[in-house]
Amino acid sequence: MKISMIVAYGKNWEIGLNNQMLWHISEDFKNFKTITSGHHILMGRKTFESIGKPLPNRTSIVLSKKGFSQDGVHSFSDVQDAFNFARKNAEEELFIIGGANIYETLFPYVDKMYLSEVDFKGKADAFLKPIDFSTWDLCEQKDYEEILSEDGKVKSPAWKFKVWTKKD
Ligand SMILES: NC(=O)c1ccc[n+]([C@@H]2O[C@H](COP(=O)([O-])OP(=O)(O)OC[C@H]3O[C@@H](n4cnc5c(N)ncnc54)[C@H](OP(=O)(O)O)[C@@H]3O)[C@@H](O)[C@H]2O)c1
Repeated sequence: MKISMIVAYGKNWEIGLNNQMLWHISEDFKNFKTITSGHHILMGRKTFESIGKPLPNRTSIVLSKKGFSQDGVHSFSDVQDAFNFARKNAEEELFIIGGANIYETLFPYVDKMYLSEVDFKGKADAFLKPIDFSTWDLCEQKDYEEILSEDGKVKSPAWKFKVWTKKD
């Protein structure tokens, strides 16, 4: 089973504030939905609480050490038990979807990264640990322009979508 991570981060590696996202980029949400649909998605308890419900057409796995249970969610306190659950269900590509704590702990297991680099700098309390790309190959990139609203304010910032695979 391949283990992938998918994350959107700002110029200073910021990913969240007060357990919420820092921007709204509808094209990025659509992308996230397309990439993860039909797969197991693995997240920390805080990210699940921020989303609030299991995402449709995906199998939600939540990691929690202190215990967590909710209808429609598979909860584990041990990372390997979570991976084995997905393997038993014949998953071919498991997606780690956050947050900061989970990205950092599970990074050594990641084979493939789907990264959205957002042209955003601002207050945050959740960050991605900076990634050293020297051990990764870039296999896909698409650039998106910022979108302005009618009053000229930035409705959605510019961003780059990049897919990286770990070098052998
Ligand atoms: N920009 C993005 O792409 C993106 C994506 C996802 C999330 N986010 C943001 O990230 C932030 C949340 O990140 P966070 O670091 O605060 O929380 P988190 O990683 O979502 O969840 C942390 C919780 O996961 C559980 N956990 C962590 N490591 C574990 C392990 N090894 N085994 C079992 N359970 C484990 C613990 O739950 P218990 O306390 O229950 O034991 C821990 O408190 C929010 O701001 C959110 O909006 C951003």
